[in-house]
Amino acid sequence: MKFDTLVQATVAGVVASAVNAATADQWRSRSIYQVLTDRFARPDSSTTASCDTSLGQYCGGTWQGIIKQLDYIQNMGFTAIWISPVTYNIPDKTPYGYAWHGYWQQDLYKLNDHFGTADDLKALSKALHDRNMYLMVDVVVNHNGWNGASTTVDYSKFHPFNNAKYFHSFCPVDNYSNQTNVEDCWLGDSKVELPDLKTEDSAVADGYNTWIKQLVSNYSIDGLRIDTVKHVEMSFWKPFNSAAGVFCTGEVFSGDPSFTCNYQNSLDSVLNYPIYYQIIPFLNSTNGSPTALLNALKSVNSSCRDSSVLGTFTENHDVPRFASMTSDLSLAQNALAFTILSDGIPIVYAGQEQHYSGGGDPANREATWLSKYNRQSDLYNLVAAVNQVRNVAAFIDPKYLTYNIYPIYSDAHTIALRKGFDGKQVISIITNLGSSAPSTTLTLSGTSHGLPSGTVVVDILSCAQVTVSSDGSLAVPMQAGVPRVYFPVAAAVGHGICGIGTSETAAPSATNSKKSVGGLQRRGDRRRKVVKAGLAAAAAGAVGAVV
Ligand SMILES: *[C@@H]1O[C@H](CO)[C@@H](O)[C@H](O)[C@H]1NC(C)=O
Ligand SMILES: *[C@@H]1O[C@H](CO)[C@@H](O)[C@H](O)[C@H]1NC(C)=O
Ligand SMILES: *[C@@H]1O[C@H](CO)[C@@H](O)[C@H](O)[C@H]1NC(C)=O
Ligand SMILES: *[C@@H]1O[C@H](CO)[C@@H](O)[C@H](O)[C@H]1NC(C)=O
Ligand SMILES: *[C@@H]1O[C@H](CO)[C@@H](O)[C@H](O)[C@H]1NC(C)=O
Repeated sequence: MKFDTLVQATVAGVVASAVNAATADQWRSRSIYQVLTDRFARPDSSTTASCDTSLGQYCGGTWQGIIKQLDYIQNMGFTAIWISPVTYNIPDKTPYGYAWHGYWQQDLYKLNDHFGTADDLKALSKALHDRNMYLMVDVVVNHNGWNGASTTVDYSKFHPFNNAKYFHSFCPVDNYSNQTNVEDCWLGDSKVELPDLKTEDSAVADGYNTWIKQLVSNYSIDGLRIDTVKHVEMSFWKPFNSAAGVFCTGEVFSGDPSFTCNYQNSLDSVLNYPIYYQIIPFLNSTNGSPTALLNALKSVNSSCRDSSVLGTFTENHDVPRFASMTSDLSLAQNALAFTILSDGIPIVYAGQEQHYSGGGDPANREATWLSKYNRQSDLYNLVAAVNQVRNVAAFIDPKYLTYNIYPIYSDAHTIALRKGFDGKQVISIITNLGSSAPSTTLTLSGTSHGLPSGTVVVDILSCAQVTVSSDGSLAVPMQAGVPRVYFPVAAAVGHGICGIGTSETAAPSATNSKKSVGGLQRRGDRRRKVVKAGLAAAAAGAVGAVV
C-alpha cells in the first residue's frame, strides 16, 4: 500500500468518528498550512492579479479559491489548513486600508462576504473532510474593530455586543509589563481603534461561548487559532475552549516559556513563540549560535503542560519572512526541516514554500498565486519530503509524536536532534553553515542516535543511504549547508519515502541527477509520482475501503 493511502486511511478513521469535535490528541499528528484567505487563491484560479501588499486592499482570495488549490496543499503532505477569521469586519476603507485580514470584527453572526457565502465556507469544510483534512479557523475575542478614534465609536454597529457597557472604557495598551493594562486597555490607535471587550463580564463571556459553539457546529470546524490571547484574562479561556468543543491553539505573543506555557493550563495549546524566538537567530545568519535554542527546547518542554501539541512555526503573517533576513536557500531549508520535525504541530505559512521574502507586516502578506503555485520549487519539495517522513513516523508509531525531541550533538553551527525510538527514530541535523559551506563529515556516536551497527538509514532529502558502522558511529556527509534527515530504511519500506520498497526503488544514477541543492530536485520528481498515486487511490474510494 502506498504511503498516502496508509496515512489517509488512519486520518479517515479519526474524521469519521469526530467531525466537529477534534481533540488535541487528534490534532497532534496533523501538519498545518496557514493561509490568509484573501491572499491565497482566487475563485477562478487565476495567477496574474496584482496584489500590492502596501495598499491594504482586498486582493480577491476566497474560500472557493482555496478549494481549488487543495491539491497544491495536500501534495506537500499537509493534513490541515488554518484560514483567516471568517466574520464580518469594518466594511469601509480605513487609513490603514481595508479589513481584508479579518482582525477588525464587527458582527460575529455575519460572514465576511468578500470570502464567500455560508455555503462556500461549508463547501470548504466538506472538501477538506473529503480529503481527511482538518479545518482550523482563526477567531478574535479580545476586540472589535472601529474605523476612527475612541471618542467616535458607535457601539450600536457591533453585534451582538452592541452597547458600551460590554466594553472596557478607553485607555491605550502602553505598558506590556502591566498585565492589567495589557488585558483591559485597547489595542489599535486613533486611526483604527480596537475596542476591548469586557470579557470578565459574564454576559460577554456567555455571549462568546454561545457564539463559538454555533460557529464550530454550523461550519463543521475542527480547530481554532485564537488571536491576542494574552490580552484577555486567563480565567476566560478554559470555559471558551470547552464551549468550542474542539482543539484550540492560542497566540500568546511572548518568547518567555513560563509566561507563554502558563496559558496552556487553560487552552489545549499555544503557538510556540519561545522556540520561534530562538530558532530564528540561530538560522538567520551563519553567525548564529545554537545555545539559546537548545536551552529553550529544554525549558519549553519543562514549562509547558504538553509540548507535543504546541504550534511550531518559523513564519507567520505577524513576523518578517525568513527570506527577508537571509536569501540563503540552505538556511531556509534548515528552518523548514526544523519546523516540521521538532516537537509539536508544524505550521507552515503560505509562501514559505516558495521562499517568499516579505519583511514585517504588511510586506509579509504576499499573494500566493503570484508564485503560480510552483510545485517544482526546492522548498515545496523539501516540505513534501519532510512532512512525508513525519506522517510515516507518526503512522508506524504514534509514540513518535509524544517522544520529546532531544539534542544528541551540537557544535558552534550545527545540532543533531533525535525524535522517536526502537529503530523508528528520525535523526535531523540542522545547521547554519549556509550554502557556501565546504563538504565535511560529522560523526554521531552510537549511544546518541540509538541505532545498532549495520542499520541502514536514508537521508530523506537527498535519498542517499548511510550505514551505522561496526563501532556504532554514524558518519554524516555534510554538504552546502543543507539539513540531513535520517530515517531507518527498514522503517521506510513501502511508505513511498525515496521510493524505497516500491517499484521505483532503483537507485537514481549519478549521471542523470540534476544539479541542485542537496539533490532535492531529483528526489522531488520521483516522490511526487508516489504522492499522486496515493491521491488517486483516495479519490477512487480506496481510503474508505482500507479503514
Ligand atoms: C508599567 O507597569 C509596571 C508593572 O505594573 C510598573 O511597575 C511600571 O511603573 C509601569 N511603567 C510605566 C511607564 O507606567
Ligand atoms: C496598570 O494598568 C492599569 C490599567 O491601565 C492602571 O490602572 C494601573 O494603574 C497600572 N498599574 C501600574 C502599577 O502602573
Ligand atoms: C448557526 O446557524 C443557525 C441556524 O441557521 C443560525 O441561527 C445561527 O445564527 C448560526 N450561528 C453562527 C455563529 O453562525
Ligand atoms: C535574526 O534574528 C534576530 C532575532 O530575531 C534579529 O535581531 C536579527 O536582526 C535577525 N538577523 C537578520 C539578518 O535579520
Ligand atoms: C521533557 O519533560 C519530561 C517531563 O517533564 C521529562 O521526563 C523529559 O526527560 C524531558 N525531555 C527532555 C528532552 O528534556
